[in-house]
Amino acid sequence: MLNQIKKLEKQAIESIAGAVGTDELEKLRIQYLGRQGEVNKLGKLMPGLPDKDKKTAGQSLNRLKQNLAATLEKKSQDLQNISSQVKLADLDQPSHPYSPFGHLHIVTQAIEEIVEIFKHIGFERVRHPEVDWDWFAFEALNMPKGHPARDEWETLFVDALENPKMGKMVLTPHTSNGQVREMLRLGKAPIRMINIAKNYRRQQDVTHTVMLHQFEGLCIDKNINISHLKGTIDYFAKNYYGPDVKSRIRPFHFNFTEPSFEVDFSCSICSGKGCRACKSGWHEVGGAGMVHPNVLRAGGINPEKYSGFAFGWGVERSYMMKPGLQIPDLRIFYQNDIRFLEQF
Ligand code: PHE
Repeated sequence: MLNQIKKLEKQAIESIAGAVGTDELEKLRIQYLGRQGEVNKLGKLMPGLPDKDKKTAGQSLNRLKQNLAATLEKKSQDLQNISSQVKLADLDQPSHPYSPFGHLHIVTQAIEEIVEIFKHIGFERVRHPEVDWDWFAFEALNMPKGHPARDEWETLFVDALENPKMGKMVLTPHTSNGQVREMLRLGKAPIRMINIAKNYRRQQDVTHTVMLHQFEGLCIDKNINISHLKGTIDYFAKNYYGPDVKSRIRPFHFNFTEPSFEVDFSCSICSGKGCRACKSGWHEVGGAGMVHPNVLRAGGINPEKYSGFAFGWGVERSYMMKPGLQIPDLRIFYQNDIRFLEQF
């Protein structure tokens, strides 16, 4: 009898310890301590025992009962504690009220806004390579090898095999490589593209980062003239900076446009009167002009039939001029300082 009690005790305690839920524990309680349970079954054998053994057997059985009851109680507590901890990590619960929310980087926001504005006047966003052949970045743009105009784009060259026709590979210093690429891609006019891409230049200071984004507009069709260019720039200025902002174009020189211009927008802080931020009332944003006939020819388009305009400028730089922003150093865009980024 004593042996049977010991065996039952060992077996019961092991199964209680292994229980993983309160339902299972309740089943074990019934199995061992229930009216028809194992302990009572042993109890029913008592009357058949020799008298001298009855006392110790009775005491052992009582101890077993108490021991199992206590073990069940302790296990039940443990399971409840665990389930309350599990609740804390319940994924269905609402998240912590102060969890930080992320958002798109300012440059991505700016790009999306620019794309949206140009979409309304039929310009389609395209992407052309950011690492490209010298031919697309310079030669096809009317800047033959060794032309001094190339110096203006402080170009980073890729240390790779030169292509006999296309020249060296460059990290594109401007998005203008997309002009001839787009002409060749479509193989015909009309064209209205916005090419937005990363560019690289060998310079770094408060108004320049080694990597920057540019957006390049190109419009080619029959009878396109400077007033279309001016109208497009004006439309962008008003939609990006506000209805009171004016644009102006000043004569300049690029090999790939003729005539060429620099583009200014009136300062939105002083409404063009002249203040500390702009000095003259105007901010210079970038370049533009009428596509040079040689560039059209490089792209397989007949300059006798078609004409076009192009413009290009920096995403970061033109973003900095938005009203109400005071960003003194362009490099901060890429320092990933959350205190700066989360303000946008
Ligand atoms: N690619 C020129 C630059 O990087 C800008 C430009 C684009 C000028 C298109 C004229 C036409 O400065």
